[in-house]
Amino acid sequence: MRGIILAGGKGTRLFPLTKVTNKHLLPVGKEPMIFHCVRQMAGAGLTEVLVVTSTEHMGEIVSALGSGREFGINLTYRVQETADGIADALALGETFSGGEPIAVLLGDNIFAQPLAPFIQRFREAPDGARILLKRVADPERYGVAALDEQQVIAIEEKPRAPKSDYAVIGFYQYDQSVWDIIRTIKPSPRGELEITSVNNAYISQNRLSYDVYEGAWTDAGTFESYYQANQMMFGNLIKP
Ligand code: DAU
Repeated sequence: MRGIILAGGKGTRLFPLTKVTNKHLLPVGKEPMIFHCVRQMAGAGLTEVLVVTSTEHMGEIVSALGSGREFGINLTYRVQETADGIADALALGETFSGGEPIAVLLGDNIFAQPLAPFIQRFREAPDGARILLKRVADPERYGVAALDEQQVIAIEEKPRAPKSDYAVIGFYQYDQSVWDIIRTIKPSPRGELEITSVNNAYISQNRLSYDVYEGAWTDAGTFESYYQANQMMFGNLIKP
């Protein structure tokens, strides 16, 4: 099993902070945002991890993370030249995966609880796709799962009228058929290759399962959520 952290994109919603540096290097708690992702991977025993980021920021990301030795893992890097979507960034991981199943983390998603148990479960039966759902108050901001009994029957990206309050959060696990699936999907109306299209392709093959994450979580891609991410991490660090 190998890990992939996606840290490309433009970070426009955090401008002008992202004029100064890459979104994933902004501090969350005591460390740059992306460190939390690297620690999640290392904590789950994934020793080979790929980081994908944009051309402009690759230098700074490598300066911050280095070889991965500090975290006890090996890091590999790949450049996504244009921000053409999460699935476009993921496609750069095909050779790196070496035919193994993968655990994918979005670089701006902060989880207070370890992802290790979810990774362990998929590692034991690495078939199809396994996603993570979380009940949220504002599902329209995310990919949202439509559920029929216990089954995810469709995922809609940022729907105006969400069919549930279960957001599909930024941690995904795939078997090796993900690479062929990415080659079949088309850009969305916002011009991106969406991870939601990849997950819907697995649903249409009846090969998508999920876990529900109960711990504290946020993305950190807007000023509000970035603030929440800091509150969450400092809440753990500073006891009144
Ligand atoms: O946070 C969870 C949500 O993340 C999911 O619920 C949505 O289904 C998923 O599409 C995504 O939504 P966002 O619109 O918030 O994603 P955003 O464009 O902010 O990208 C999230 C991360 O993905 C970003 O921190 C880096 C990586 N990324 C994104 C793009 C567009 C890339 O590596 N390359 C890219 O081209």
